[in-house]
Amino acid sequence: MNFIPVNEPLLEGNEKKYLNECIDTGWISSDGPFVKRFEKEFSSKLGRKYGVAVSNGTAAIDIAVQCLEIGVGDEVIIPSFTIISTILQIVRSGAKPVLIDSDPLTWNMNVDHIEAKITSNTKAILAVHIYGLPVEMEDLINLCRKYNLKLIEDAAEVIGQTYRSISCGSFGDISTVSFYPNKHITTGEGGMVLTDDKTLAEKCRKLRNLYFDDNNRFVHTKLGWNYRMSNLQAAVGVAQLEQLDFFIKKKRYIGKLYNEKLSELKSLQLPLDKTDYATNIYWVYGVILKPEIKLSAKEVMKKLLDNGIGCRPFFYPMHLQPVLKKLNLFDNQHYPVAENLYERGFYIPSGLSLDKKKISSVVDVLFKIVKK
Ligand SMILES: Cc1ncc(COP(=O)(O)O)c(C=O)c1O
Repeated sequence: MNFIPVNEPLLEGNEKKYLNECIDTGWISSDGPFVKRFEKEFSSKLGRKYGVAVSNGTAAIDIAVQCLEIGVGDEVIIPSFTIISTILQIVRSGAKPVLIDSDPLTWNMNVDHIEAKITSNTKAILAVHIYGLPVEMEDLINLCRKYNLKLIEDAAEVIGQTYRSISCGSFGDISTVSFYPNKHITTGEGGMVLTDDKTLAEKCRKLRNLYFDDNNRFVHTKLGWNYRMSNLQAAVGVAQLEQLDFFIKKKRYIGKLYNEKLSELKSLQLPLDKTDYATNIYWVYGVILKPEIKLSAKEVMKKLLDNGIGCRPFFYPMHLQPVLKKLNLFDNQHYPVAENLYERGFYIPSGLSLDKKKISSVVDVLFKIVKK
């Protein structure tokens, strides 16, 4: 059997045509017209006024945190079960990340735990939608209003998802996405910062572009980055965006097929297909080994790989990260749900190129490993 990778992007729309346009016109840098077009079309698809295309999703979060002037003396509430990108600029800025454990079923940050962690220093909540299902936004937004907190929303894993019929990526004072090839749409590398606030949008634009001054180009009043997106990347993005609705349908189809086929394996916890506020769009298809399975997630993943099935571990919680431990950030802190997710969870192939046959092969192998 051929190896089934954990993800493969689908590039069968106008990607080539638009890339050829870039080559034919010579517009390959960030000054090219596809960048503005992608910003406009993507932000309006998500119901936002402004989009600032950047070089990747991590850069988008860096810009969001910096734009809101988060720094020394501030605290920012974030989940422990997340990708390290979400904490980097908080730590670099000298602010204090305050962690929240996950909900055992949705794997998102447990919003019920947040209020107890709010102090007079709390400046923002950084909400990260996990693996295709949104965070419980209503309660979180109420907390932001009650305590006058900024909301940064990382919607990298839920592009095209809605929370109670409202687009994910439209909730934050600043929201961010990534267009890495495993995302619902891709630009190879890329990301976007989204907001409805003109002043914030202009500041994000400058932070993306070395904080060049509008009137005195080489005079800089703040520290920025070169986080620009190229016209080539944006051309791919425009073509991908044209297919987003189809991609979401396909992801849901993949998720449903796995759910049907794997539901017999009672020793696996499967992802929730639905909550009362959203239907999963399966950024990845994650499973958790219940206690009756004596193998660890690492051991099962090794067996999957040995059988030609690509897979990945779940996120390693932030409070366990060696680089953050060295900074004594989370001494003696425990987040049991996040720890269990890492120890017992992993995800199997769920890229847009999967077909029914490949899904059956993955399921067959998983059955053999788990049933033993
Ligand atoms: C939730 C989340 N935020 C941010 C990122 C970082 O995006 P990038 O890899 O484009 O920097 C990722 C990447 O997988 C992600 O899943």
